[in-house]
Amino acid sequence: MIVIVCPRCARRHKVNRDRIPTRAKTIIARCKACGNKFPVDFASLKSREDAGADAAPASKKRQTGARKICVSISKGGVGKTTTAVNLSAGLALANYRVLLVDTDTQGQSAYILGKKPQAGLTELLTGELGPDETIISARKNLWLLGGGKSLAGVKRIIDKKSFGAEWTLAESLKNIENKYDFIIIDTSPGWDQLTVNVLFYATEILIPVALEVMPLHGLAQFMKSLGSIQKYRQDISLKYIVPTFMDTRVRAPQQIFITLKKLYKDYICKPIRYNESLSEAPSFGKTIFEFAPGCSGAVDYRELVRKVAMDDTLLR
Ligand SMILES: Nc1ncnc2c1ncn2[C@@H]1O[C@H](COP(=O)(O)OP(=O)(O)O)[C@@H](O)[C@H]1O
Ligand SMILES: [Mg+2]
Repeated sequence: MIVIVCPRCARRHKVNRDRIPTRAKTIIARCKACGNKFPVDFASLKSREDAGADAAPASKKRQTGARKICVSISKGGVGKTTTAVNLSAGLALANYRVLLVDTDTQGQSAYILGKKPQAGLTELLTGELGPDETIISARKNLWLLGGGKSLAGVKRIIDKKSFGAEWTLAESLKNIENKYDFIIIDTSPGWDQLTVNVLFYATEILIPVALEVMPLHGLAQFMKSLGSIQKYRQDISLKYIVPTFMDTRVRAPQQIFITLKKLYKDYICKPIRYNESLSEAPSFGKTIFEFAPGCSGAVDYRELVRKVAMDDTLLR
């Protein structure tokens, strides 16, 4: 018996493996719950099954080659950048080599890390400069490929490409990715050519979901768009849903959390609590571990680091 999880509605389907042709590499599955048709990479499913897991990553060992995780959802203000930066910083503190890629025109990641890069993703994507001139060292074990306003122009260039436009980011990063254990990619709100490029590069998706406002609609929309990308890009999958802005004093966020847990139980992580220090740290150019290492925000992001790295002993 194998378990196939629908990428749109997260329903788990138990399938008798004898019913799948032994030579099939990819099968097109249809979710009985929501009708979504999606490709299933049978080879990777089999290796995960052999390792005794279905949705969870298979190994606790350090990977060879970088894990490419994008922090994404079309909504703004839900904690994407805060999560991308602090997850990257935490993994770096745990001795992983991390590259943080900022694909947002706001360039917030550099600001939070107290850096002012002279060049970044724009110049790398246009081919004007190489990785050595665009990737800067931000902390021990942490490197940054900065975003910023100039990315708006790059989006237009990508849009005009007659073919292969969606692989622009992947091509720019492919020669350097082996230097890192993790490549964490922060994305802009909305859905544009650069978002599509990120989803044609990353292999794992982490979605922050703010518990302040009713988030389920935005999440369902994103899952639908992801479904259409997965038709062309089978090695990307949703891995983590991180509830953010959890306020334990108020009932509504807890109710939303319970609903999310029911719908997406394979992906749900421990919530990041509402914490003022998380909103104050950026103006000091500090990560939460530098600004207030004892606060609940730091505690919660350490927990996320352990979950993503699959190592419960880290940063204790
Ligand atoms: N858990 C949290 N508690 C309090 N403030 C937060 C928390 N997470 C993020 N913030 C603040 O909320 C705002 C939006 O977060 P941000 O990470 O920029 O969202 P996004 O990248 O999705 O637009 C920022 O000012 C940030 O400092
Ligand atoms: Mg952001």
